[in-house]
Amino acid sequence: MAVWEWTRDMMVGIDDIDFQHQELIDIISMLHETTEGLQFDSAHRTLIYLESYVVVHFGTEELYMKQFEYPNTEAHVTEHRKFKEDFDNIRLDFARRGASPMFVEHIKSWSAHWLFDHVAKHDVEMGSYIKAKMDEVGRRGRDNR
Ligand SMILES: [Fe+2]
Ligand SMILES: [Fe+2]
Repeated sequence: MAVWEWTRDMMVGIDDIDFQHQELIDIISMLHETTEGLQFDSAHRTLIYLESYVVVHFGTEELYMKQFEYPNTEAHVTEHRKFKEDFDNIRLDFARRGASPMFVEHIKSWSAHWLFDHVAKHDVEMGSYIKAKMDEVGRRGRDNR
């Protein structure tokens, strides 16, 4: 069983966001496997991939929030920025010291915090707001036909 697995309570309800979360969980799992297996080259490549994917993912969510005028956008974007900053520190730590036990622990706590505190709560909350708005727009479109 993978260390990090997709569960239904992480479901946001917007297909491209859910797909990105699943992809991110796979990348994080790979990062855990490579660092714990001391495969530093693979861990390094995975870190680079994770960094770019995180940027794409946060960008996708922020676009949805802007488009549907999500009321908690500012707080949500601030959290994204904080995650990105923490991730930059993790990368810096890896560049300086390689996959030290501290690095492995840092990655674990970063991903746990991101998945269980952010995705399962704040992303899910944002998703239900945006889904409701999307349904409303769809309904209005049908009524005007
Ligand atoms: Fe997310
Ligand atoms: Fe988010």
